[in-house]
Order: sequence, then structure tokens, then C-alpha cells
Amino acid sequence: MSKKHVVLIGGGNSTLCLLPFVVQAGHTVTVLSRQPSRWSTRVHVDIEDETWGVGSQLTTGESATFQVTSDYAAAIPDAHCIWICGVPIHHNRDILRHVAPYLRQDVTVFVGTICAYGGFDQICQEEFTAHAPNGSRWSLFGTQVIPWCCGTRTYGEHGVIYGAKRILRIATRQGNDVGGIKDFLSPILRIPLADASFIGSNLFPNNAWLHPPILCGLFEQWDMQQEYEASALPTYIYGQLSANSITMLHGLQRDMTGVLKALQSKYPRHKIALYNLRDCILENYEDQVSDPRTLESSISSNAAFSKHTIPYQRRNSTSRQHLTGTEQETEWWCVPDRSHKFFVSDLPYGLVPFKDYANQCGVNTPWLDRILLWNQRMTGNHFFRYQPATGTLVLDEAYYDAHRHECFVPSKMLS
Ligand SMILES: NC(=O)c1ccc[n+]([C@@H]2O[C@H](COP(=O)([O-])OP(=O)(O)OC[C@H]3O[C@@H](n4cnc5c(N)ncnc54)[C@H](OP(=O)(O)O)[C@@H]3O)[C@@H](O)[C@H]2O)c1
Repeated sequence: MSKKHVVLIGGGNSTLCLLPFVVQAGHTVTVLSRQPSRWSTRVHVDIEDETWGVGSQLTTGESATFQVTSDYAAAIPDAHCIWICGVPIHHNRDILRHVAPYLRQDVTVFVGTICAYGGFDQICQEEFTAHAPNGSRWSLFGTQVIPWCCGTRTYGEHGVIYGAKRILRIATRQGNDVGGIKDFLSPILRIPLADASFIGSNLFPNNAWLHPPILCGLFEQWDMQQEYEASALPTYIYGQLSANSITMLHGLQRDMTGVLKALQSKYPRHKIALYNLRDCILENYEDQVSDPRTLESSISSNAAFSKHTIPYQRRNSTSRQHLTGTEQETEWWCVPDRSHKFFVSDLPYGLVPFKDYANQCGVNTPWLDRILLWNQRMTGNHFFRYQPATGTLVLDEAYYDAHRHECFVPSKMLS
């Protein structure tokens, strides 16, 4: 495919990791970041996934091969592909609203996301219909899940890929790639690509199938006050699963199976599979999972997952100095970081749409309800409220009306 102008939005982990791949594929790249002055002229990514076959490091090269700006008006008008990458997905709507006025009319622009869940296509459609110039043309896509587990070693300069997916589905509106986005992405991503629909991607086992049950299993009884000794808490979110977390993971899996079965009947033309978390992890990561026997072992023995940590806030005021032998040590006290995207994104763009899909189909979801109510307490939201008469969770219409731009409720979207 010919050389294109690609705009990567967000300065987070996945932009840092994707940038050298896009540059090496021969495209012109602009990064849209709120902090352009912090970017190096050369970005490199370490690849710790030895069996992927793309080497141990990729770089953008020595000379300036990409630009960085915070100005949408400078970046978007010439773009052929606008790709929201290194940004937690709860910012998508706001970003799309900033993109919309500069969309071009002369060619169809690919507009995509690195995580095609949380109603990306429907939110895009709403924002562009309201804010893009008449005659603008766009074609939506998303990598169904992030192409790799990744991180940042130095902001704006040095990324790390812990483990890449062994197959990646690309979501498009009808799920059959009429715009040819896979041909464009294939030389960039270097992973075998397949087709998916956006609705299937909203339900594919992703962050919201993992983080909320794991964290609820750890902190369901937390009173939002108590401080924990840091050394008594697990460090790794996937690598140190508690018994409660495992119970919650299995419970949510059972509930989601019921929802998926009902949705398959309701939307027979969409590509909705009967997703199973363990099967999806094994398909995504294959050889990187050393113990595939159970759901929990597939998570905790996945090398690609092994470096992700649980977000805590350190409470400096209550650190204790004490002596061990001749060395002075500090014992830190912590609380879960409720402002982290594991709480803030996974509720409104994961658990909330799951519950809305369940209610659309009349499916009972006791584990989803329990985890969702806990997550609402943790984040101070109440998208759903318990209705004692029916024993079910129902959308709080007034709260939704006041917060509709902060969540994705499929039954409330226009298309
Ligand atoms: N990293 C992983 O391994 C992984 C795994 C599974 C799923 N995901 C998902 O993939 C998506 C991207 O993740 P990521 O890890 O690449 O992102 P990230 O590192 O968490 O993104 C952080 C960046 O988001 C940007 N940002 C923050 N607040 C913003 C705001 N209000 N407006 C605009 N930009 C803002 C900032 O970029 P600037 O500095 O440029 O302003 C910030 O540096 C997320 O939805 C994440 O949950 C990631």
C-alpha cells in the first residue's frame, strides 16, 4: 500500500510501541500528545517476546522521522489514518470531538482505535455526525484488543513490548472489512489479521473481563479508609491471583456466557462468538502461556501478562521507619488507586455495556451485578441501581442523562 500520513493520538504505552512499526512500514507519522516537548526525536521499543520473530528492538531511526504536536488543526487535516492509541478509552469521545472539525472531504479517512470495545464505532458516529463538516468521509476500524501487552520505560522515548498477540482481529462496522484496512495494517503490525465486528469486540474478553473480578476479589470488603501494609499486598495483577479473584473470574465468565448466548439469537448477523476467557487467552498468546490447564493458570502463567502491576496509592503520612539489623527500612502503607484506568475505564465502557446487553436480553447476571455494584462504590458512580421489587439492576435514567458522555450504554445509542 502507498505511503500514507498516519496520526497516532495519545502519548501512552501503545503509541510509543506502535510508532517505530508505522515509521518502519514507510508512512509519515504525526503523534498528537498533550506534552510534545517531552518527546525525543528518536523512539525505540524493546521487544521481550523472543518467539514473535521481529527481533529484540525496533527504532524510528536516527533522523527525525516523525513529528509531535498538541495541535489537532495541524495534525488532522492531511491525515489518511487517525489512530487513537496510547490513551485510556474513556477519553475517546472527547478526542473524537476534537478530531471531527478537521476531517477531510477529498478522501475517506481511516479512523481507528487500539482497543475496539466500549462502543467506539457508535461514539464515533455520534461525534462525527454532530461535529464533522458536511461531506466528510470516514471508515472506522479497531484492533479488537491491544496488539501486545506493553509499557513505557521512558516517556516519549522508550517503550517495551512484553508479549504480542499471535492473531489479531480487526473490527469494522459490518465485520467484513469493505474499506481494506487489513491490507494497510498488516505490514505495520506483523501479526496475522482476521475480521471482527464492533459489537463482537464490545463483548470480547478484554480488560473488563479481567481487572474488575480480580480487583473485586481482593478489595470487595475494603471500607475505602483502611490502609494496607504494602508488603502484605500482591504486586502483580495477573501473576498473583487470590482465591477470591479466581472465584469472581469464573462467576463473571458464567454470566457472560449467558449474555453471549442470548445476544447470538438477538443479533444473528453480527459476528458474536461464545467467547471463553481461557480460550481467548490461549488463542491470543499461545506459546507464551506455560500452564494452559485452567482459566487461572492461563492468566497467571502468561509471560505477556507477567509485568502488569496492581495500582496503589502510597500513603506517605503513615510510613513507618523501623530497623532490621543494621539497615533502616521503611514500611509503606497503601490503598487501591481508584483513579486508575482499571477502575475508571472498565466500569463505564465494560461492565456497564455488559449489564445493558444482559438487560436487553433478560439474562440474570449475579456475578456481574456484584462486581459492578462494587466498582460503582469504588468510583462513586451509579449508572445502575438495585431494584428490590425485581431483585435486578436497572439503569438509573436520571444519572445516565447527566453522565451519558461518560459511559457506553448500547440500548441508548442511535445506531
Ligand atoms: N498497555 C497495555 O499493555 C494494555 C493492555 C490491555 C489493554 N490496554 C488498553 O489500551 C488502551 C491504551 O492503553 P495504553 O497503555 O497505551 O495507554 P496509557 O499509557 O494508559 O495512556 C496514557 C496517556 O493517555 C493520554 N491521556 C491521559 N489523559 C488524557 C486526556 N484527558 N486527554 C487526552 N489524552 C490523555 C496521555 O498522553 P499524553 O502524554 O500524550 O498527553 C497519557 O500519557 C487503554 O484503553 C488500555 O486500557 C492496554
